[in-house]
Amino acid sequence: MAEEAVLGFLHQNDEISDSGQFATQSGISHDEIVNVIKSLSAFHFVDAKDIKRDSLILTDEGRTYATAGSPEVQLVKAIPPEGITPKELENKLGSQIFKLGRQYAIKNKWVEMGKSEVTKKIDTVDDEVQKLLMRIQKGEVMNSTEDAAAIKMLKSRKLIASQIWKGYSVKKGPKYARERRKPATDLTRENLQRDDWKNLEFKEYNFEAKGFPVEGGHLHPLLKVRRQMQMIFLQMGFEEMPTNNYVESSFWNFDALFQPQQHPARDSHDTFFLKEPSTTKTLPEDYVARVKQVHESGGYGSRGYGYDWKREEADKNLLRTHTTAVSSRMLYALAQKPFAGQRYYSIDRVFRNEAVDRTHLAEFHQIEGLICDRGLTLGDLQGVLQDFFSRLGMSKLRFKPAYNPYTEPSMEIFGYHEGFKKWVEIGNSGMFRPEMLLPMGLPEDVRVIAWGLSLERPTMILYGIDNIRDLFGHKVDLGLIKSNPICRIGIQ
Ligand code: PHE
Repeated sequence: MAEEAVLGFLHQNDEISDSGQFATQSGISHDEIVNVIKSLSAFHFVDAKDIKRDSLILTDEGRTYATAGSPEVQLVKAIPPEGITPKELENKLGSQIFKLGRQYAIKNKWVEMGKSEVTKKIDTVDDEVQKLLMRIQKGEVMNSTEDAAAIKMLKSRKLIASQIWKGYSVKKGPKYARERRKPATDLTRENLQRDDWKNLEFKEYNFEAKGFPVEGGHLHPLLKVRRQMQMIFLQMGFEEMPTNNYVESSFWNFDALFQPQQHPARDSHDTFFLKEPSTTKTLPEDYVARVKQVHESGGYGSRGYGYDWKREEADKNLLRTHTTAVSSRMLYALAQKPFAGQRYYSIDRVFRNEAVDRTHLAEFHQIEGLICDRGLTLGDLQGVLQDFFSRLGMSKLRFKPAYNPYTEPSMEIFGYHEGFKKWVEIGNSGMFRPEMLLPMGLPEDVRVIAWGLSLERPTMILYGIDNIRDLFGHKVDLGLIKSNPICRIGIQ
C-alpha cells in the first residue's frame, strides 16, 4: 500500500518534498513510508534525499498534562469559592500534583496560601501550558518569538524534549516505473516450458553476498574419547573384539559367564528381552551341555549352584547388558584352537532396563580389556590396570574387593582425581572363574584377567558435563556436538 502510494504520487507529481507530510496526508505511518522509500531507492526506482529537522516531543509527564491540564490549573480549579484547607486540597489532588501546582500557582499569583486556608485570587484561569503541549503534540510549526520563549519554559519544566526528525524528499529515479515487479531469482523449468522467460526481469547477481556457512561433520565427545581409549589399548598390544551385535542370547550374555538363571540381573526389570525373534537359533551343543552341568552340579573343583538349568532360559534373546558377552564368545573361540595368549579389548554399546537419571541412561558404552595367558595372577591384573589408567592420567589407584558372578577375585577400581582432589570409582575388574573358562576347553593353567569401565563417565569428567542427558540422547544440544574441544586424555 505504501509502495503504491509513493510510486502513484510520483506518477502525477515531480516530487514528494517531505516524507513526513506525505505520511500524514496519505494516512500511512511514517515508518512504513520510510521503509518503502529505502527499498525503492536501493533499486533506483526513486532518488531520495535526507531531510533532518529538529522536532519537539512531549515527555511522559508532558503527555499527562496535555490531557488532564497543568498541575497549577488543576489546583486552582479544585479550590471552592469559599476556600479550602491545604490538607483537604492535597487529598483532592494527590501530593504530586498538589506540590507542583502550588509552586506554579503561587508564582503566577493565582492563589493565597495560608497555613490553614487556601483561597483563589482569580475567578477563571486559562491553561496556557496545556494549550502549548497540545499544539506540540499535533506537530504544529512553532517559530514565533513567543513560541521560542514558551518552548524554553516547557523544556526547563521537562515537559518536552528536542528530537532530530529524519525523513526524505523523493523524486523519480532512473528505473522509475508506475509499479515494481519482483525480479525473478531463478530460471525455472516452468519458465522454459511456458516460454515466458524472455519477458522476465532477473535479479542481478550479488557477488558481495555472504554464502551459507559450510557445514561439515562433527565428532561427538564420546567418539573422541573412544578414539583415545582405542589408541591406549593398541599401544599396549591389545586386539579389538568384534562387538557388532547388540542382540545376544542369554546364553552368551549370562550362562557362559556362570551367572545363575535366577540372578536378578536376568529379570525383565533389568534386561531388555527381545519379542521378535525371541530365541536364538544355534548354540554349540557340546559346550551348552558342559555349561548346564557346571551350573547344576559343578565340576572342575566346583560344587555348582545346584538348581535345574533350563535351556529355554539360555535361548532367550536380549539386548546385551555388557560387552563381556562378546568376551565369552571370544574366549570360547580361542579354546577351540591350539592355545596362544591374547590381549583383547572392546568399546561398544550395552543396554540396561534402568530408570533414567542424571548419571544413568538405558544405553551406554562399555570399555573392556582382557588378557588371557598361562599362569597370570592378581598381581598381573593390578599391574596392567596401573599401566592402563596411568596412560589415562590416573596413576594413583586403589582396589576394593567386589563381587561378580564370573570373576573371583573381583576388584572395584578407584583412582585419585588430581582435579577433584578425591578418589573416584573408575571401573570393575577380576579374574574369570574356572567354572567359566574350563567348560570352554581352555587349558587348566590358563588365567584370564579382565576389567571394564564406562565410556560416558571419563567423557563427562573430561568435558565437564554433569548430566549424562546433556551428553547422549535426544536432549543433547547440537552446539556441543558441533563445537567441542579435542580430547586431551592424560593431561589433567
Ligand atoms: N562386565 C562388568 C560390568 O558390566 C565389567 C567387568 C568386565 C568386570 C570384566 C570384570 C571383568 O560391569
